[in-house]
Amino acid sequence: MDKKVTVIGAGNVGATAAQRLAEKQLCDVVLVDIVEGVPQGKALDLVEAAAIEKHDSQLTGTNGYDDTADSDIVIITAGIPRKPGMSRDDLISTNAGIVRNVTQEVASRSPEAIIIIVSNPLDAMCHVAYDTCGFPKQRVIGMAGVLDSARFRAFISMELNVSVENTHAFVLGGHGDTMVPLPRYSTVAGIPITELLAKDRIDALVDRTRNGGAEIVGLLKTGSAYYAPASAAVEMAESILKDKKKILPCAAYLQGEYGIQDLFIGVPVKLGAAGAEEIIEITLTEEEQQALKKSADSVQELKDLLKTLK
Ligand code: APR
Repeated sequence: MDKKVTVIGAGNVGATAAQRLAEKQLCDVVLVDIVEGVPQGKALDLVEAAAIEKHDSQLTGTNGYDDTADSDIVIITAGIPRKPGMSRDDLISTNAGIVRNVTQEVASRSPEAIIIIVSNPLDAMCHVAYDTCGFPKQRVIGMAGVLDSARFRAFISMELNVSVENTHAFVLGGHGDTMVPLPRYSTVAGIPITELLAKDRIDALVDRTRNGGAEIVGLLKTGSAYYAPASAAVEMAESILKDKKKILPCAAYLQGEYGIQDLFIGVPVKLGAAGAEEIIEITLTEEEQQALKKSADSVQELKDLLKTLK
């Protein structure tokens, strides 16, 4: 394959992302983890599935970084996931150290790469990676909104008993309790859901979306969601690798857009070969603006907290 993607963290999200990247024939994949044997074992297992899944992607598992050199994209999933009762923010001190360390390793070997952050707390981890790698802002992007809007779409489709393919959903803000789903921009076959559902039903779906991660953590008990997070990261990678220029909700570094300064937060982003090629600004109602401001304030708090952890 002429493209190469490194996935850091061969746990649930990382290994699933590696599988999807390979099976979609998007690229060769290098899977890195600190635990000896795990990335090698999972990569080999995926290689052995290739004949049946019919793909020619090469998969390499390693505990080092030499094989990651000259990656087009690096997806960082390394870190610890949530346990029941934990918020994403509880992970900050452990995951900040891990993300800083792995970003240093990959940035020096793949200076032209685009980094997609998956580790939580997402928006704060984007700051850690951005500050560490020194890459332009277009090349550090966080995966959150694609996952949150996929969850919203799933719930809309269940509620209305329509194909999920007919749904479209719009989510802004940080990846946390303050995320801002936008019902008036969320549609079924182009029809805003505000035309199809009563307000209390929409509020219930929005609530379930906000708590979508916690709902899965509560069920799994020993980890957090990974099928949908991996799908979301791979959709972003595909848009970049194929220069599709899809507009997807991603955490991007804002410098004045939406009135927000120097902060990673979820907004609609055009994803192409250069990374976050454009941030799309839409007009928000007063209420939506307030909700986004509240979300930005909570990301800012985590950003400030990061300074005390260094
Ligand atoms: N370098 C490389 N890999 C590491 C490092 C490190 N410094 N530290 C931890 N890891 C690896 C772990 O060994 C583990 O295999 O990261 C992997 C994480 O996998 P899981 O524990 O299965 O967690 P996962 O569900 O994949 O979630 C990873 O993504 O969605 C977020 O909140 C989630 O922050 C978490 C991350």
